Amino acid sequence: MDYPRIIAHRCGGALAPENTLAGLRLAARLGCRGVEFDAMLAADGVPVVIHDETLERTTSGRGRVVGMDSTRFVQLDAGGRHHPAFAGEPAPTLDEVLRLCATLGLWANVEIKPSVGQEVVTGRVVARHAARSPGKLLLSSFSVEALQAAAVEVAQLPRALLVEAVPADWQQRLNASDAIALHASARALSDEALQAVRAAGIPLACYTVNRRDEAGRLFALGVSAVFTDRPDLWAAAEM
Ligand code: G3P
Ligand code: MG
Repeated sequence: MDYPRIIAHRCGGALAPENTLAGLRLAARLGCRGVEFDAMLAADGVPVVIHDETLERTTSGRGRVVGMDSTRFVQLDAGGRHHPAFAGEPAPTLDEVLRLCATLGLWANVEIKPSVGQEVVTGRVVARHAARSPGKLLLSSFSVEALQAAAVEVAQLPRALLVEAVPADWQQRLNASDAIALHASARALSDEALQAVRAAGIPLACYTVNRRDEAGRLFALGVSAVFTDRPDLWAAAEM
């Protein structure tokens, strides 16, 4: 897996409303080569891009994502809560986000973010939609079940296992997910875990790194990529 070194977290990081097309456009304008975003199923089974299982924090909607059809979801304002300058920015479907990534030439890490109890169906549906994208992408998830379902649906899409702290049984979980890489929290990463993952030859990417010096330290230790809310801290040539 050829990772971009700097990956804009939730599309554009902190500089744009998270998980929006505006974020992707900003990331591309800053010179980012890669973006990460979160995909969940709406009530009608259509995958949409949002982080939380509930709508309130990032959109003008109320209630659960899984309780709203995608046709209503896309009418929500996903920009105004970030800043009034982004008011009217629509909440996007996964297909819209994948299409714009392909148009902008952005490598995409699609994080499968199932609502509780929807691990298998979300893995399956997100993989099916991702497989139709002409762009370069990687699937990831905290859910081994979701990754397994994605693998059954579309074997050829690369997958990464997401963890907070690297668990003692990380290698078994990685194998069970049929994943090629590990994405771990930088804050929870011990030197021992980092060395063990590197020694096994497994690519490691770390979230969420919002300082250049911290990213530099991780790169020096062999980390392949960092997810950041602050892609503006790097020049385009460094990304
Ligand atoms: O994929 C890396 C990171 O996005 C995982 O955490 O909660 O921001 O989706 P979260
Ligand atoms: Mg995420």
